[in-house]
Amino acid sequence: MSSSPASARDGFSSGFGVLAATLGSAVGLGNIWMFPYQTGNNGGAGFLLIYLLATLLVGLPLMIAEISLGRSARTDPVGVYRKLAPGTLWWIIGALGLVSVLLIMSFYSAVVGWVFAYVGKSVSGGILTQDRSLLEQTFGGLVSNPAAALGWQWLVLLLVGIIITFGVSRGIEAVTKRLMPLLFGLLVLVALAALMLPGAMEGVRFLFLPDFSRIDGQVLLKALGLAFFKLSLGVGSMTIYGSYFRQQQNIPRTALTVMLADLTVSMLAGLAIFPAVFALGFNPASGPALLFQTIPAVFASMPLGHLLMIVFFVLTAFAAIGAMLSLVEVPVAILHERLRIERARATWLTVLALVGLGSLSALSSSTLSHVQLGGMNLFDLFDFLSSKLLMPITGLLTCLFVLLRWKQAGFVAANSNEGALHNTGLLRAVFTILTKVTPLLILTVMLYGLLG
Ligand code: TRP
Repeated sequence: MSSSPASARDGFSSGFGVLAATLGSAVGLGNIWMFPYQTGNNGGAGFLLIYLLATLLVGLPLMIAEISLGRSARTDPVGVYRKLAPGTLWWIIGALGLVSVLLIMSFYSAVVGWVFAYVGKSVSGGILTQDRSLLEQTFGGLVSNPAAALGWQWLVLLLVGIIITFGVSRGIEAVTKRLMPLLFGLLVLVALAALMLPGAMEGVRFLFLPDFSRIDGQVLLKALGLAFFKLSLGVGSMTIYGSYFRQQQNIPRTALTVMLADLTVSMLAGLAIFPAVFALGFNPASGPALLFQTIPAVFASMPLGHLLMIVFFVLTAFAAIGAMLSLVEVPVAILHERLRIERARATWLTVLALVGLGSLSALSSSTLSHVQLGGMNLFDLFDFLSSKLLMPITGLLTCLFVLLRWKQAGFVAANSNEGALHNTGLLRAVFTILTKVTPLLILTVMLYGLLG
């Protein structure tokens, strides 16, 4: 982010910078780690199809809404609602988002810690094998070792704190811009290698031939939650990034581009993992362990596999840190713009809070594994509360805010750049979906998933 001469606030300087930053928020562990394991846990292609529908009918319209709300108010995610609807309680949308961010960061930073640990393990080469039990033991050994899990997570948090205080976010933007295409290219290579394993087609069928017998209310809710998580919605990440958007940026087009690019990365990750799962006899429903157990086995089958595996985990770590920046930005912006706390201090306060909260997730498979609620450890509980409860509720309230307060005129004016883009016909259609279809879908899926 560089300061724009037009305002005292920071902002993204070029159209490409806006796109890169927004894509940087969306693409992360959600694509490479969460999408494959949730698809594997929930039966494959049927889940994928529902996730695609949720992305189109809930994710895309909400992304457009959040970004345009942010740009119209140009302030933090709580301030947006105080500015656009003064004297009302709509700011609660921002506050709920803040709670979700803290829960997400708690487990997200633990997983980025695992990725860091796997960079180390890749360098030493011990995991470059197709030996299933060795790969399972390696992962199990990491998550059940409190010192390792905490150490790597704290390193991640320290790094994120340093990046933000030193104002290197422009640097990270520049780096991500170059690394993103590399990650993309490498994923294509890994997918090709996985597809060449004998028996790979079974994985392709799993990913693309829907079996609807596995679909129930819970699966629908998980697909909805993934759509929110993937596009960084329902917490204020897109709202705060929207507040840094250039005035002349085409928001609907940027959102569509980000959605399509993000889906492509997820599909590539799926094509890298599922062929290997079936070819080598892994369990597709291995949960959060899936990526860490199967990917090394694919690299073991590739020429230059050792080197490429190191590059893979390094690029994944970068993508994950890029996404984390948009999460941390929510509390930092709120502390800075609401409470007038200096940015550097706000950053370290946030990092400190995350060291505490994050430890709960990092220790959830070891020291704290006995702390359970509803059959979930703290890691799973934080994931459940954010993706399946708070984010959909915040999304629903955002739809209602647009419907009741902003109304069609406000939404259309903001997203057409006051008419300059000549897209008002399209925007009326988006408004209809956003205020009728989207909220109805969220409400139905939540009721069905939680009560059914
Ligand atoms: N979308 C990112 C990913 O897929 C994670 C992320 C960044 C996020 N900001 C968010 C998730 C806000 C939910 C809400 O890895």
